[in-house]
Amino acid sequence: MLLPTLALFVAVALPITSAYPITGTFVNCRSGPSTKFDVVRSYVLGDEVTLTCQIAGETVTGDYLWDLTTDGCYVADYFVKTGTVGMVTEACAPIDGRSSMNGPISRDEILARGQVWIDLHVPYSQSAAYPDPAGTDYRTDCSGFIAMAVHASAPGESTVGLIDIGTEIAWEDLQPGDFVGTLGPGTGGDNGHVTLFHSWADNSNTTYNTLECRGTAYGCVAYQRPIGWKDGSFTSKPYRYIHVE
Ligand SMILES: *[C@@H]1O[C@H](CO)[C@@H](O)[C@H](O)[C@H]1NC(C)=O
Repeated sequence: MLLPTLALFVAVALPITSAYPITGTFVNCRSGPSTKFDVVRSYVLGDEVTLTCQIAGETVTGDYLWDLTTDGCYVADYFVKTGTVGMVTEACAPIDGRSSMNGPISRDEILARGQVWIDLHVPYSQSAAYPDPAGTDYRTDCSGFIAMAVHASAPGESTVGLIDIGTEIAWEDLQPGDFVGTLGPGTGGDNGHVTLFHSWADNSNTTYNTLECRGTAYGCVAYQRPIGWKDGSFTSKPYRYIHVE
């Protein structure tokens, strides 16, 4: 009778443990939840980490969970002895399900995916790529960012092609996770721009908070724009991703 009692005690005690041992001999902690992100620091066997939250990322030896440590970097949960393959603390972002590429996706997940690049201040480039939380590379410009956030095909449609995965809507119908841009023919390269709609910034709904990869001088940032902003001869319009739930 002693052993089952002990086992029960351990099972009950685990959730209140806040420091977890690293199980690998040398384990990298990265700026995002995938091996494509930069190494911020590393841990060695026996180091203990405390966790801020957990998030789905690149699958490492069958385990897709990554742990954001209180050191501010992400380590594959596979190398952290939490006592379970499941979660032991809260989710890092309100990701209420793991979308697949070109599959249905919730508004919360679109914003959470976008927020990852904003938090990392991903540099803007029309020729570079950066991984999404699952390690898929998307182009690091305004339209690549939208494709990444909605989890559409990688490396992402340009502003010319985004109209194929968005339906034009009215300004007053904008909801979090919709996008606003100058899209369609002629808007390629530096001619067009597109932003993710986060929320209204004023009571009259004439200015909104964006998440966007704004340009070389700014990188991927949160910003505010008025409705109907212009880019050259083009006037922005609001769109809804075709697979938003
Ligand atoms: C602004 O948008 C919100 C959310 O869609 C809505 O509830 C509110 O009524 C709008 N306000 C105005 C002034 O249109």
